[in-house]
Amino acid sequence: MKILVTGGTGYIGSHACVELLNAGYEIVAIDNFSNSKPEVVQKIKEITKKEFIFYEGDVCDKDILNKIFKENKIDAVIHFAGFKAVGESVQKPLKYYRNNLDSTLSLLEVMTEFNCKKIVFSSSATVYGQPKSLPIKEDFALSTTNPYGSTKLMIEDILRDLYISDNTWSIALLRYFNPIGAHESGLIGENPNDIPNNLMPYIVKVAIGQLEVLSVFGNDYDTPDGTGVRDYIHVVDLAKGHVKAIEKVLKDSGVDAYNLGTGKGYSVLELVNTFMEVNDVKVKYQIVDRRPGDIAACYADAMKAKLVLNWQAEKDIKQMCKDAYNFVKKQK
Ligand code: NAD
Ligand code: UD1
Repeated sequence: MKILVTGGTGYIGSHACVELLNAGYEIVAIDNFSNSKPEVVQKIKEITKKEFIFYEGDVCDKDILNKIFKENKIDAVIHFAGFKAVGESVQKPLKYYRNNLDSTLSLLEVMTEFNCKKIVFSSSATVYGQPKSLPIKEDFALSTTNPYGSTKLMIEDILRDLYISDNTWSIALLRYFNPIGAHESGLIGENPNDIPNNLMPYIVKVAIGQLEVLSVFGNDYDTPDGTGVRDYIHVVDLAKGHVKAIEKVLKDSGVDAYNLGTGKGYSVLELVNTFMEVNDVKVKYQIVDRRPGDIAACYADAMKAKLVLNWQAEKDIKQMCKDAYNFVKKQK
């Protein structure tokens, strides 16, 4: 079975490539390196000791997609390619709508032409907006609060409409909670060049001395210690969820959404304290005002993925903290 992975050198895509190769799939990957580095291709090969075909190119470009589908018999696609920074999407909405929607439409058109109708799509827990209760189930109402989130919800709608028009499609919408951590080899992981927006990359940069102090956004939420609670999931567990989702779309047609989370919530301070403890390192932090738009708590009901995909997260918060630090130390 040959799987096309778009955004294959990105944070989650690279880990998914590793797990797919380890599970015995052939893969073809494409990325334009807008948010990743060419060296990741070699690292994936080094980890897995397996070869795969890589195309440098833009998923919005139908010519390169046509070339890929002509040169390879693709059985299914995992679509990671897209922009993901919430704050930037508010500043530059057109950049986000153009890239995230255009890449998806080009991909779906070319897939249709080549009669490849199986796709796993990277959605996000952001499509739940402000959830009515916790834990969050897949059938909760959907809404968004920023252009990035809107692109995810629009793409989910496009995929649902596509299935209505032709029910031979097989579509899995994977709603990720908060992926953190890195591959245990320390060869691939997440290390943004700019000042990070998300919590774990920020903690790591403070730990290695590249940033001075972590700002904890609010300690007056209605949570056990007052800081925000999230469902952090190890990126390797998340990647394994894609292998299970691919098995499902290869087998059955339909369109289904799945939460990929652990089902457990940890607060900002719990994550910071665990990080300091397992890595024996100090992370200086200060409490500041809440970040506008943040919700108090967010965690998944992950039962559907367990029952239908036979997947559940296995790695705990300590492992996530260890692997995140190990990766970034190796980059220094
Ligand atoms: P990432 O930025 O590390 O990876 C995305 C990859 O896609 C990058 O390598 C980038 O260069 C590439 N890319 C972007 N636009 C492209 C285009 N038009 N053509 C070719 N390549 C392109 O992000 P990630 O964290 O690995 O996220 C992967 C997917 O999962 C994204 O769609 C993201 O929105 C979604 N997601 C991520 C998170 C998260 O917290 N990381 C949470 C929920 C959903
Ligand atoms: C982010 C994205 C969301 C995406 C989700 C899953 C934003 C605004 N939202 O949400 O779209 O679906 O990841 O990947 O980027 N925090 C601090 N200090 C920091 C950074 C964060 O205290 O410097 C706190 C936040 O207030 C929050 C928690 O840490 O309580 C996690 O924040 P973050 O990593 O940005 O993820 P989310 O806000 O859950």
